[in-house]
Amino acid sequence: MRILACLMICLAAMSACSLPPAPPARTARPTHTPVVSTSATATFKLSGRTFEPLDPFEQNRALGRGVNLGNALEAPVEGEWGMVLQEEFFPLIRQAGFATVRVPIRWSAHAMREPPYTISPRFFQRVDWVIENALNNDLNVVINMHHYEELFRDASGERDRFLALWDQIATRYRDLPAEVVFEPLNEPHGTLTSGVWQRLFEDVLAVVRRTNPRRNVIFTGANWGGPDSLRGMKRPDDPHLIATFHYYLPFQFTHQGAEWVEGSNAWIGATWKGTGNQRAQIDYDLDQVARWAKDNGIPLWMGEFGSYGKYADIESRERWTRYVARAAEARGISWAYWEFGAGFGVYDRARRQWNEPILNALIAR
Ligand code: GLC
Repeated sequence: MRILACLMICLAAMSACSLPPAPPARTARPTHTPVVSTSATATFKLSGRTFEPLDPFEQNRALGRGVNLGNALEAPVEGEWGMVLQEEFFPLIRQAGFATVRVPIRWSAHAMREPPYTISPRFFQRVDWVIENALNNDLNVVINMHHYEELFRDASGERDRFLALWDQIATRYRDLPAEVVFEPLNEPHGTLTSGVWQRLFEDVLAVVRRTNPRRNVIFTGANWGGPDSLRGMKRPDDPHLIATFHYYLPFQFTHQGAEWVEGSNAWIGATWKGTGNQRAQIDYDLDQVARWAKDNGIPLWMGEFGSYGKYADIESRERWTRYVARAAEARGISWAYWEFGAGFGVYDRARRQWNEPILNALIAR
């Protein structure tokens, strides 16, 4: 017996030696970190909750007023951009009057670079936690794919990986209630021109439909998903879609001094007084996109809008936020503010209190 036990320990040690070496420590390019593969995606279930299809117009009304949990899971690693999601955020958001959280997620930094492109189980568990907390607090939750930079640089080279990532996400969350909505890609641009993105969206939709035949999915245009972008697109032939666009105009006002926008220091000091011309521009932009949605029989969601708070004066920010939110609502456009607790924040995490002018502007108090 002792000899047998010894032999088994030796064999175990030898096979351990033949395993591939542990993945290297994270570097500045975390997307190249290999992740141990699992054979098939496990399904995440929540007891007592099942999927009941929702009409997309009804679902879009329910999305109502929302907020983006930005700068957390779409950073290369959560926390790297100063934001780690906390359990207490979810009841705070609900109690303030929001109905929805949109969760920007950089899946591409947490999955194998090579087939089968397995998503890290640990990262999946983190997203499970976010979804569970949102649903437990009566919030709808939009799961997106954010900052897939390799795809923007090389749409054809990354196509299979993109589809495989969504295959895993859709499989894992197939049993969750309709309050969980999928958004395949944030702000397509680069090599994803309108035509290329149109085909890729139809391909990813087909992948999602294998496991989620009736879940509502968010459709967006190319060219960074701005208000003009949907006009270059053909509405896919699928009854469970909601269209989206992002609104940051005038960009010189909303992005003044934004470190990630070249030349934006020159805009510091830009105000938004709400003059007749300024209001007319917003009305015009929203009328155009609302008309596209109406002509195409699709509900419309403004998945991001907001202003960077480092330099812009708070009175201008409050006026702009209020005007855009009300103008959207007047056209039946639901929305999600960009974002909760970082540079555009409606919540001040350091002081643990709401940024009242922005919150009041959003929730119409
Ligand atoms: C887009 C970008 C995000 C940025 C935001 C405001 O969502 O993906 O990184 O913070 O717009 O500029």
